[in-house]
Amino acid sequence: MTDGSPLEKAMSAESDPTPSSERAERPNAVNGAAVAELPLRSRDLSCYYGKHLAVEGVTLEFCENSVTALIGPSGCGKSTYLRSLNRMHELIPNAYNTGEAVLRGTNIFERGADPVAIRRAIGMVFQRPNPFPTKSIADNVLAGPKFSRVKLSRSDRTDLVEHTLRGAGLWNEVKNRLNAPAGGLSGGQQQRLCIARALGVEPEVLLMDEPCSALDPQSTLRIEDLIQELKDRVTIVIVTHNMQQAARVSDTTAFFTITNEGEPGRLIEVGQTEEMFSNPKDPQTEAYVSGRFG
Ligand SMILES: Nc1ncnc2c1ncn2[C@@H]1O[C@H](COP(=O)(O)OP(=O)(O)OP(=O)(O)O)[C@@H](O)[C@H]1O
Ligand SMILES: [Mg+2]
Repeated sequence: MTDGSPLEKAMSAESDPTPSSERAERPNAVNGAAVAELPLRSRDLSCYYGKHLAVEGVTLEFCENSVTALIGPSGCGKSTYLRSLNRMHELIPNAYNTGEAVLRGTNIFERGADPVAIRRAIGMVFQRPNPFPTKSIADNVLAGPKFSRVKLSRSDRTDLVEHTLRGAGLWNEVKNRLNAPAGGLSGGQQQRLCIARALGVEPEVLLMDEPCSALDPQSTLRIEDLIQELKDRVTIVIVTHNMQQAARVSDTTAFFTITNEGEPGRLIEVGQTEEMFSNPKDPQTEAYVSGRFG
C-alpha cells in the first residue's frame, strides 16, 4: 500500500530485508505490541569510529506512545547509539554501523534508503539548543519543510507555524514576534523552538540527547511536560544523566555501560522505568541507579 509518507519515499519498494519470520507477530517484551509494527527498534546494532568499536550489539525496541530513557555513565556510547538510530553517526568521518535499525519494519541501513528522508522520519534534538539564530522564529519552524522542498501555500505555512509552536508549548510566548530572530529567545524557548522545528516535518520518532542539560530547572520542567504531551503522537527516545528526569518522563529505561575498561559500551538491561529504578535485575544497573558509580 502506498501512503506517500517520508518514510515510504525513503525506502525502495523491494528494500525491506526483514525476514518473514521476523515479521511474525512476536509480542514486544515491554508492552506486548507486535514487533513488526513497532515505530523503531535496533537489532545487533554496533557503532564504530574507524577501527574503534564504541557500542556493541544493541538490540532494543521503542514502542508507540512511549518514552524510552537511555541512561549510563559518561562515555558508554549513549549519544553514539542515539545518532546511529537516524543515520547521523555516519556523518562523522570514518564512522559507521553494523547491524540494523528498523523503522516500521524496514532497515534504515538498507541500500536504497534515503538518509535525508530517514532523518525527517526520525528527528533529533541536541544538548545545546541550535536554532538558526538569525532566521525568524517562523522560518525556523518552516526550515524542515523548506529543506525537504515541500511546497506550502501561505495559509498552510501560517497554519503549520501556529500548530507546531502550539505543539511545542511556545505559541503564547512568541505569537506576537514570529518574525523576530530566534537568537533573541531564552535558552529554554530556543530548545522548544528546536523541538517545534523537528515536529514541523511530522516525524515518527524524536531522538533527544540530553535536551535539558543546558537549561534552568524551570525550562527543564517545561520540556519534561512537553515530552509527556508529545508522546501521544511521536515515539520519544531521550538520553539523560538525570535519574529523576528519567524516572519522571520515561516509561521504559535502558541502561548502558562499559563493564571493563577498553571494552565497548553495551546495553545491560532494559525494562519498565519503575522496575529499573526499584528492582533492577543486573548488579551494574543497581549500582548505577543507586548512585554508587557513574
Ligand atoms: N567523534 C568521535 N570520534 C571518535 N570517537 C568518538 C567520537 N565521539 C565519541 N567517541 C567515542 O565513543 C565513545 C562513546 O561516546 P559517546 O559520546 O557516545 O558517549 P556518551 O555515553 O554519550 O557520553 P556522555 O554521557 O559523556 O555524553 C567514547 O569512547 C568516545 O570517546
Ligand atoms: Mg552523550
